[in-house]
Amino acid sequence: MSTEKCLRARVVHESLFGNTAWIALAVAEGLRLEGFETTVVDVRFAVPADDLDLLVVGAPTHAFSLSRPATRQDAVRQGAPPETAALGLREWIEGAPSPGTGHGMAAVFDTRVRKVRHLPVSAARTAARLLHRKGYHLVVPPHGFLVEDVPGPLSEGQLKEATSWGRQLAVETRSRIAAGSVH
Ligand SMILES: Cc1cc2nc3c(=O)[nH]c(=O)nc-3n(C[C@H](O)[C@H](O)[C@H](O)COP(=O)(O)O)c2cc1C
Repeated sequence: MSTEKCLRARVVHESLFGNTAWIALAVAEGLRLEGFETTVVDVRFAVPADDLDLLVVGAPTHAFSLSRPATRQDAVRQGAPPETAALGLREWIEGAPSPGTGHGMAAVFDTRVRKVRHLPVSAARTAARLLHRKGYHLVVPPHGFLVEDVPGPLSEGQLKEATSWGRQLAVETRSRIAAGSVH
């Protein structure tokens, strides 16, 4: 029997139309396939945890960045359920404590419309900056997943890509822990 410690991850997501939530589930699947005990939580209900080996956060790109209350209301006007606008990842990260006894390792992703995917700014970049200020370090660069239009659907192949990205996160996190390059 292996005595290797089971590593723990949490995927916290914001999602107005549900696309980012599907990606979060697929990322979690990838982490689990690599042996990580993984929970997926909507940002509105996510309490900070300080005993994680890896924190993954994801959000939709709104106005080239993380959402704000006004952009979430805009999404509601375009058909998103009103309750999804209650809290965004920006506010959640700002209110979260520093990594605590965890390793302080994190990964960030966003969803964005396929036509504008090459724009240099996005929700994930903003989330990365905010997490860095809190004392987290990213195990891989921010990643964008694609939707066809504002309400979705996800572009072809995105769930598969999300699962393989999740696996990559797990492998990277484990090797950093093994190398002792985290506090
Ligand atoms: C108010 C608003 C602003 C948006 N701005 C952008 C943007 O700047 N760039 C982009 O690629 N997509 C933009 N989108 C599209 C969102 O990224 C898309 O709705 C989101 O990825 C869907 O994810 P969700 O289903 O998890 O909410 C915007 C959507 C809304 C509602």
